[in-house]
Amino acid sequence: MNKECITYYKYNALGAIMYIKKIILKISFISLILFNSVSISNSADTIKVGTLLPYSGVYTVLGEEITNAMILAFDEVGNSISGKNIEVIKGDTEVKPNIALQKARKLISSNKVDILVGPVSSSVALAVRNLVVQSKTPLIIPNAGANVLTGEKCSKFITRISFSNHQINAPMGTWLAKSGIKSAFLLAPDYAAGKEMMKAFKTNFEEAGGKILGEEYTPFRKTKDFGPYLARVKNSGADAVYVFYAGGEAINFIKQAKSFGLGEVMKLTGAGWTTSPLFIPAQKEAAIGFIGSLNYVPSINTEENKAFIKAYKDKFGRAPSEFAVQGYDSGKVIIKAIESLSGNIKDKDKLAEAISSVSIIGPRGPLTIDPRTNNVIQNIYIFEVVNGDQGPELKVLDTIEAVKSPGEGCNL
Ligand code: PHB
Repeated sequence: MNKECITYYKYNALGAIMYIKKIILKISFISLILFNSVSISNSADTIKVGTLLPYSGVYTVLGEEITNAMILAFDEVGNSISGKNIEVIKGDTEVKPNIALQKARKLISSNKVDILVGPVSSSVALAVRNLVVQSKTPLIIPNAGANVLTGEKCSKFITRISFSNHQINAPMGTWLAKSGIKSAFLLAPDYAAGKEMMKAFKTNFEEAGGKILGEEYTPFRKTKDFGPYLARVKNSGADAVYVFYAGGEAINFIKQAKSFGLGEVMKLTGAGWTTSPLFIPAQKEAAIGFIGSLNYVPSINTEENKAFIKAYKDKFGRAPSEFAVQGYDSGKVIIKAIESLSGNIKDKDKLAEAISSVSIIGPRGPLTIDPRTNNVIQNIYIFEVVNGDQGPELKVLDTIEAVKSPGEGCNL
């Protein structure tokens, strides 16, 4: 097109319209570029934390407690780390492995989360493990105890700040046998966590001279009536029943065991969640006399724990449990890890390394991650539920210090 033609178009009516159209096109093109760069810098200014936790189903209260406390930790830093805003995107696992896998895919591929926090259930954790590792999405486990996740299926992308099923239950086997319990009957939900916890207890209990007189596994998420199991436990004549339950199942089990009078013929013992401070308000006096083990008790006498309990009570109107501590510590670990990278979280390998290198002083005390397995090293508290000034409370009978998880088969 020559100069005359251009001039002709410019001053001819039709030409004028075409000229204006061209300008509009140019403006839209420029604004498209500008808009894109704004949205890119927006997403670069946000840290996306996806949760893979139960907000429905048998472990709902656990998922809510963990989320509440993690958000409390973020609130304390003004919801911003190294100048970037924190966005929490919730994924409800429903305590179902197949649902959780779908939610994990969505959080990773569509929401493009930087970090995942979850799950509560061991079976759910086993279902999402490969996806997390293959997509190099750093996962902080705030509860699920499946041993292999920091054992033969460990990964630099998985850091567990809660516990392994072995870590909580093995010490109880030795402790109960040494305290004079000669025989026990095992009872737990029929899924990975129940089986692993009973195995850990059994191994140490038998090694210390105890005898297992029977074991039963109740259908997970389905058992409402523990009556038939309670009858078999009672008839076994064991010195103690050793159980693991959590959520609605823990509340039902403890109440039904009380009505059945089980505590009158044998000691009620088990993994400490069974009478967690989260469930005691519903269990009330039925929880009294239970002997259990946990990684946190509310009576830990440190400034950090007192400040945490106060902040949680102020915000949520009730006392926190060990699940809240695990959520709060997850939040703190995220904050410290990202600060150590000055907010630069693009490199997923570096982010994963920063997460597992964090050490903090939390409500539990000093929190360190075992570099060999990426599982937390912590004190285990053996407690009895007693009648306190404000109702049933956990009285510490013994503290087993700096317990590690064996982490067999892990070579980090
Ligand atoms: C688990 O499935 O690993 C699990 C669930 C609830 C608990 C503890 C462990 O309280």
